[in-house]
Amino acid sequence: MDKIIIEGGKRLSGTIPVSGAKNAALTLLPCALLTDEPLTLRNLPRLADIDGFQHLMNQFGISTMIAGSRPEDFGRVMTLQATRITSSVAPYDLVRKMRASILVLGPMLARMGEATVSLPGGCAIGNRPIDLHLKALEALGAQIELAAGYVRAIAPDGGLPGGRYSFPVVSVGATENALMAAVTARGKSTLHNAAREPEIVDLCKLLVAMGAEIEGIGTSDLVIHGVPRLHGATYMVMPDRIEAGSYACAAAITGGEVTLKGARIEEMEATVQALRDAGVAIEPVAGGLKVASDGKLRPVTLSTAPYPGFATDMQAQLMALVCRAEGSSVLTETIFENRYMHVPELNRMGARIETKGRTAIVHGVEKLTGAEVMATDLRASMSLVIAGLAAEGETQVHRLYHLDRGYERLEEKLALVGAQIERVGSD
Ligand code: UD1
Repeated sequence: MDKIIIEGGKRLSGTIPVSGAKNAALTLLPCALLTDEPLTLRNLPRLADIDGFQHLMNQFGISTMIAGSRPEDFGRVMTLQATRITSSVAPYDLVRKMRASILVLGPMLARMGEATVSLPGGCAIGNRPIDLHLKALEALGAQIELAAGYVRAIAPDGGLPGGRYSFPVVSVGATENALMAAVTARGKSTLHNAAREPEIVDLCKLLVAMGAEIEGIGTSDLVIHGVPRLHGATYMVMPDRIEAGSYACAAAITGGEVTLKGARIEEMEATVQALRDAGVAIEPVAGGLKVASDGKLRPVTLSTAPYPGFATDMQAQLMALVCRAEGSSVLTETIFENRYMHVPELNRMGARIETKGRTAIVHGVEKLTGAEVMATDLRASMSLVIAGLAAEGETQVHRLYHLDRGYERLEEKLALVGAQIERVGSD
């Protein structure tokens, strides 16, 4: 298996292009199920999860075509067409590898009147149940059956009537599934306490471009007026705010100055605020965001929260950064119960982090030291890369398949701004 080798201590300087957002792409792709016309998505990131989703769509009989893009483009263009759906089953083998497969449940139900999806099961960052996805679909009029590790959703004859659902906790995935199911319902649907992450806004914008009628976009109360059918569209995936935030942490920990091309400050305000609190300068510039640090970092205190709060997907990377702060930071993870797998690995690199339940106390240290490390999830792996960039000596990061799920051409992008980083094969 491949590994990444980083020789730490190089100051990052230059421009990093930000890719299309993984978490937006993974909810835009299943929208192809909602129409028999072509859906073209531009600026798709080249990631293992996108390839996996393409494979899942092919399994349903959907044709997918990737247009050649210029070598200087980072994004890909994919046209999907669900002229005829030949299977409405998402099998265990695919769902197990890619949790986002659950997002076919809503649109498949809307299009076919039924959908069968394997239950995703546990995952490295906590239990991650799907009860809210199912309750929301039930509220829209679906009948839900659970058997043999699969969930089957069935709409009444004539399609889903639509309905009202109030989420007891904010759920990104469940909001996405409910939205995609409601757009072609026979009547009006109302979703209260809906997630309002920028990726949900991106989903709403695509659905509107396909002919959906949605009020309240960007708020936690969404009203969806069902329309009889949706049509095709061409849509550009939003920039990846988590990737941008990750590279901001990478630049800052090296005392560097980097422009994040394509990053949009308005979608990452909590991250920007946290970085400013840590003493990092961040300003919008034409077409992106400029990040600069003199390497002197201050401690921060914050909790993860649904948008517009500080994203759970940024917690590990920010933690790596404040390992080098002068003083103690207090980070609390409120979204997932088991999202500190990077802590023991960071400590092996010389960090001083203690965890007490959902809170991590990060005592800043003067230096980090390179080590062989590995992590069990995507953002945790990125936190080890960030630490490695500032560490004295060599860091080897193993289990790259996590990074490949979420960071397009990671080593190329970091090398572009002066990091000494390479990917090598190992056994
Ligand atoms: C979550 C994050 C999202 C992040 C993604 C990948 C939030 C609100 N969501 O989205 O920002 O990009 O992980 O790391 O920050 N829950 C239930 N039942 C359900 C669904 C969720 O109890 O049916 C709970 C979860 O256990 C969790 C919370 O609700 O505590 C939020 O989960 P949810 O937003 O659904 O997770 P993702 O969609 O994976």
